[in-house]
Amino acid sequence: MRIALSTGGGDAPGLNTVIRAAVLSATNLGWEVLGIKRGYAGLLGEDEIIPLTRDTVRGIGHLGGTILRTTNRLNPFRYPRREPNGTIREEDRSDELLHKAREFGIDAVISIGGDGSLAIAQRLYEKGMKVVSVPKTIDNDISGTIQTFGFDTAVSTAIEAIDKLHTTAESHDRVLVMEVMGRHAGFIALHSGLAATADVILIPEIPFDIAKVCDKILARDQAGRHFSIVVVAEGAYPVGGTHSTIGQSLPGEAERVGGVADRLARDIQLRTEKECRSLVLGHLQRGGMPTGYDRLLATRFGGAAVRAIAAQRWGEMVALQSSDIVTIPIKEALGRPKRVRLDDDVVVTARATGISFGD
Ligand code: F6P
Repeated sequence: MRIALSTGGGDAPGLNTVIRAAVLSATNLGWEVLGIKRGYAGLLGEDEIIPLTRDTVRGIGHLGGTILRTTNRLNPFRYPRREPNGTIREEDRSDELLHKAREFGIDAVISIGGDGSLAIAQRLYEKGMKVVSVPKTIDNDISGTIQTFGFDTAVSTAIEAIDKLHTTAESHDRVLVMEVMGRHAGFIALHSGLAATADVILIPEIPFDIAKVCDKILARDQAGRHFSIVVVAEGAYPVGGTHSTIGQSLPGEAERVGGVADRLARDIQLRTEKECRSLVLGHLQRGGMPTGYDRLLATRFGGAAVRAIAAQRWGEMVALQSSDIVTIPIKEALGRPKRVRLDDDVVVTARATGISFGD
């Protein structure tokens, strides 16, 4: 049996952990493992295909990033190709991909990625590729699994940052507004904000009213707490408004969500006349070593993906459900993206402890 691994989409701490666990599990079954560099570019002649052995994965289990590199721009169904006149045309190179996979004698693929990679894996499966997926994203917005690896590490990074903000905000009687990632899901903001005792948490699932945000800040002021911490998810938006975006995306790139914190800080300062400062935690949430929780989950996912191949569960995604790792059809996970439920006990507890959601 010869299998190939591919990492796609935004990177997340734990990718190398999955790679290590899958390679060791597969080689211990006597299988051969190949690594496709940069999503599927390695199979489309635009990067390498490398052998993955015990030696290749030795000592990478705790390292952030991915030794296979990754991309969120090279979708094989919409592969950007620069024309002689400089324009970019998108072409469907999926047939070529399946042909190359056969040429390399690849029997099955483990696709490690987020919603974009899952959608690609589903389409490749429908075209006949034997594929199993591992859900990866710091956003934790993939249905069918309680959690994706990368999420715990991103939340821990955000908590450390919010802890630091408390001391400087209090020293200056300021409002500090920190923007965290998550695209159109508010899990990172919600979990880090509650754990690090933020005063206001703004998430896409609850459009906010700036007046209510300022009421909370001024109420704290009147109670002698002259500083506030606002954690805002990059996809959060005001009632009647839309989410903020950043700059021009490159061809093939998804829209870049973000830029809400700076405007929010300016609006709060104007309305409350309190000094406000903003910051974007950005890619610090994507970098660095995975937490112990993520290392364990990613290891479990990697091993489960190899077992799913052995059981020929094609077109399925490994998933954490209750305390077990199971597999579910990729199609089911793609059905609807996971969003914060407003009756989630994390939301209810945040409100009960006095946190405002700006509503
Ligand atoms: O999906 C993971 C994620 O980190 C999002 O939270 C964020 O909006 C996006 O990727 C950033 O993408 P890029 O790394 O391409 O800027």
